[in-house]
Amino acid sequence: MKKLLFLFLISACCGQAGAQTDQQKAETLLKKMTLEEKVGQMTQVTIAVVAKGAWANQDGSLDPAALKKAVTDYKVGSILNVVGHAFLVDDWRKIITQIEDESKNTRLKIPVLYGLDGIHGQTYTLNSTLFPQNIGMAATRNPELVRSAAKVTAMELRASGVRWNFAPVLDCGRQPLWSRFPETYGEDVYIGKTMGATAVKAYEEDGLKNPTAVASCMKHYLGYSASRTGKDRTPIYLPEIEMREYYLPQFREAVKAGASSIMINSSEINGEPVHASKYLLTDVLRKELGFEGLIVTDWEDIKRLHDRHFVAATPREAVAMAVNAGIDMSMVPSDFSFYDLLIEAVKKGEVPMARIDDAVKRILVLKYKLGLFDNPYPEPAAASNFGKPSYQALALDAAHEAMTLLKNQNNILPLAKNRKILVAGPSAQSISALNGCWSYTWQGKEEQWYPADSKTILQAIMDKMGAANVITTTGKGFDNTMNYDAANLTSAAVNADIIILCLGEDAYAESPGNTRDLALPDEQTALAKAAAATGKPVILVLTEGRPRFISAIEPSMKGILMAYWSGKKTAEAIADVLFGDYNPGGRLPFSYPRSMGEIVLYDRKPTEDVREVFNDNKNSGYDPLFPFGYGLSYTTFDYGDIQLSSSALTGNAKLTVSITVKNTGNRDGKHTVELYTRDVYASITPCMQRLRAFQKIDLKAGETKTVRFTLDKNDLAFVNAKLKTVTEPGEFEVMIGDKKAKFTYR
Ligand code: BGC
Repeated sequence: MKKLLFLFLISACCGQAGAQTDQQKAETLLKKMTLEEKVGQMTQVTIAVVAKGAWANQDGSLDPAALKKAVTDYKVGSILNVVGHAFLVDDWRKIITQIEDESKNTRLKIPVLYGLDGIHGQTYTLNSTLFPQNIGMAATRNPELVRSAAKVTAMELRASGVRWNFAPVLDCGRQPLWSRFPETYGEDVYIGKTMGATAVKAYEEDGLKNPTAVASCMKHYLGYSASRTGKDRTPIYLPEIEMREYYLPQFREAVKAGASSIMINSSEINGEPVHASKYLLTDVLRKELGFEGLIVTDWEDIKRLHDRHFVAATPREAVAMAVNAGIDMSMVPSDFSFYDLLIEAVKKGEVPMARIDDAVKRILVLKYKLGLFDNPYPEPAAASNFGKPSYQALALDAAHEAMTLLKNQNNILPLAKNRKILVAGPSAQSISALNGCWSYTWQGKEEQWYPADSKTILQAIMDKMGAANVITTTGKGFDNTMNYDAANLTSAAVNADIIILCLGEDAYAESPGNTRDLALPDEQTALAKAAAATGKPVILVLTEGRPRFISAIEPSMKGILMAYWSGKKTAEAIADVLFGDYNPGGRLPFSYPRSMGEIVLYDRKPTEDVREVFNDNKNSGYDPLFPFGYGLSYTTFDYGDIQLSSSALTGNAKLTVSITVKNTGNRDGKHTVELYTRDVYASITPCMQRLRAFQKIDLKAGETKTVRFTLDKNDLAFVNAKLKTVTEPGEFEVMIGDKKAKFTYR
């Protein structure tokens, strides 16, 4: 005991005399700071504020006077974003260098923290590697790919001199109308929390001082995706029981995984803007989830408490309201109003100094952790991590694994390579419709910024088949009128054996992606009908960020491939699947609805499942066009019976669930084994099924493998009427593929 005490004293005293922790350094620095310096740290502006020509800037050149005003006069702690479009890596390095040079002119020489949105690869650096959007990554059911892609994103950000990434998006995609659905991991909580926590770890686990890591920013806390109308930034009505069951667990896991920062939902929940919610920001996030990192607002959201949400009578009241609720940094971002108003509010006693100190300490701690005080400049060692050839291979792996085959009538796919192919539809010669939002520009629509070697679906098919075997009725660009000429398609089809029809959505992000209707636009439906009417087999390729209804045309399509927005290698992955060079294994991360009145999610309640029509209580209430988890392969897999290590799970013990899977076809293939459970009776109406675990395996033709899952009581838990996460004793069903078994929990 004495020895232990001695060791403790030695280490405590050495800790003080020797290296200080980042916390201690932040506290020491904080003591030297004026109110103005503190509030400056809490202020974040967009690069347009310091760029020559502001928003009109095209080359990233900074205006020295504007930069001095922001960094030296207003002492801003952070800058974000781009103007116009992505810049070259060297341009970014110049920008960051210039900003940090300016920070050296300030009294305390506190470095500026730069943040960007690298949500599916490093969005804003030209020639960076873009991966599938989260919705496609979820379809891969492969956390290892999420991990590797996040690491590449981190390296390409850091190579660009940027150490803060506004990712991952942890919003749960339970409203397919929502324009940010593609940024989500889909409708399931387990996939969302698994992939989200994996991404956070991948961004940060090397240690933030290392040039391979960046600080992550989980977003958008909380419930952002649950908008009632599906329009971006519109009201959410979310009972707390639902919030805790479906929207909070992803953030809880990401906090545990070590996320350094968090961005707040711009909308309101039950009438309260989240930026003003002390309950969500302080009571739940800080106290309950134990989150210690930095809380940043989303774009302009403090101002909007006054001028859009109308809960603050003045702009200053809005500032005080948000900071008192728990906001540490304001993405103002186009002026310095926050700085002036917060100083006033503190002086008038509307915001306590202790709250300011708490916020600033968190900002400084992150800057210390990131090594910015040691060297805020782009690191030479980071530069060589940009654009490695292996990243392209990884992008192709991810795109391959995302590909989800939804229909393959009479095994029409894969196609033989000696057929005459007609390629039609608006996404056939579009790059933006393969990549989607946050791709070299915010909206992702300006194709001139994409890497020169990006391929269209038409090019990828021609590369494979030889140009002589491919005809097309399409022109460049999604909106090109040629692409919608049904008569032209009909006449061209005479010379083709098969039609590959490329439909879906062009890129959009946030509010510009709001839609009045999830049905595929009429002109695309007309094209599909014309294609089917030719009598030639039609293969539908969907490149889209959310499920657009295709029920009107689905019966006449012989094959359907869901490609999502799968990044740089989408076209190659599509061609590989269509012509059999890759065996698809992606699984839908959402229920693909038939129509507006049939939006029911897979983890439905029993009464959603029963359709009470003419006393016909068949379980037909969940009737999507394609169910959650659906996805075909060119081979077939058979399951043996489920084996349980025990018929009872007790207390904190563990239950092993095993199953053998056999590849019964004649092709090798990847296959995801998904384990669902159902609580047979519970105090809250139980879900019909919940995904509790998955494992992706490789199986050679004819090969059999045994897959084992270990469950404990936490895997069976749900949120009860008292808002507690509980596992109630009783009977449970476990479901894998077409197999079922039962056990009891006591
Ligand atoms: C988006 C955020 C993003 C921020 C900065 C906002 O409009 O909602 O997701 O991080 O802009 O670009």
